[in-house]
Amino acid sequence: MPENDETTPSTEGMVDYDANSLAQKEHALGNSAVIADLARRVADLPFDLNFTDYGCGPGQSAIETVRPALDTWSTLKPQKSVSVCHADQPGNDWNTLMGLATGKNGYLNRAHPPLVSAAVGSFYERLVPDSSVSLGTCFFASHWLRSTAHLNAPNTLWFADLTGDARHVMWQKAKDDWTRFLHLRAEELHPGGFLFVSTIGAVPEAGEINDTAASGRGIYRAMQAVTVSMAEEGLLDRSVADKFVFGLWFLTASEAREPFEDGSGLADLYDVDTIDVVGVEGGGDVFSSHVDSPAEYAKEYAGYTKAFAASSLRTGLFEPTLGEGKDTTWLEDEFFRRFEELYREKTTAYALEQWHLKVILRRKPG
Ligand SMILES: C[S@@+](CC[C@H](N)C(=O)[O-])C[C@H]1O[C@@H](n2cnc3c(N)ncnc32)[C@H](O)[C@@H]1O
Repeated sequence: MPENDETTPSTEGMVDYDANSLAQKEHALGNSAVIADLARRVADLPFDLNFTDYGCGPGQSAIETVRPALDTWSTLKPQKSVSVCHADQPGNDWNTLMGLATGKNGYLNRAHPPLVSAAVGSFYERLVPDSSVSLGTCFFASHWLRSTAHLNAPNTLWFADLTGDARHVMWQKAKDDWTRFLHLRAEELHPGGFLFVSTIGAVPEAGEINDTAASGRGIYRAMQAVTVSMAEEGLLDRSVADKFVFGLWFLTASEAREPFEDGSGLADLYDVDTIDVVGVEGGGDVFSSHVDSPAEYAKEYAGYTKAFAASSLRTGLFEPTLGEGKDTTWLEDEFFRRFEELYREKTTAYALEQWHLKVILRRKPG
């Protein structure tokens, strides 16, 4: 019977984020017109204006996410009080983020700077006061579930390749988390305020496992290949590897819509503006410019993947293999050495493909 583990936050302690978040920064910049438009649509609400970015991270992308709204509000409503709240987990690199906000490419060097605050905690709990958010964003974050999972999953460490009972259990977990996230945000949004969620998604694809193509399938399958090779050589505990699954789910558009259609009360709280999943221009391989240099290509992929995956691998795979309190550095280094080697040999066979989920919701009055 598959088991769940609710103890380990999925992303606590991500590393090297700013240096390895090119795609996230491009995504924030690419959405600046949408953010500006939503800021315009809430500018007349009869409240102080607040922008809260959930799962903000520590990088320049968090600054670029906020900037279009501040530009819009300072033009349209220079007399209104404006505040920004960056929300993330305790392990976020808050010093770096605040350094960026106050630095020369930050958003505080303006005539009427906003009030800035941080909300520290999980977005699966309440983070800010009731009805205090005019415009909320959550970019590249809500695909992380409340915790990593321990399931009977010997053939994969990734949700999209789960089948049967294990997939069913994982989907229930993902759907519960998505529903919970939206209920919590509804409490925090002003009536008339907008929530804009954009993150990694998935699309139907006949013939693929579960008839679904999920973003990053190459990366997760490469990590699975490394896991298998290390388990075969006894470097990873096979019984641990057989149960470890990243605490992730990349929603298809119809999965994202489900909680609005199943009587869980969300249809009473939000008007749905957009729920869509679209492919990224060019397919999504952010390192394609290095493809003629396999060593460079592989290095970029290893750095990028380590930045978001190392903390889950450490708590879900390396620590349980070595035992509590043991130094996992060598195991982690060996894992990513093999991962890099795989990309050097196979290059685009494991290239990143991306589909993005875009959800825009308006909080109903009352
Ligand atoms: C890939 S980063 C994205 C950061 C930023 N929004 C961007 O687009 O660059 C994901 C962020 O989500 C945060 N995160 C993941 N799960 C979270 C949770 N349950 N509560 C709050 N933040 C969370 C992580 O700490 C991390 O900073």
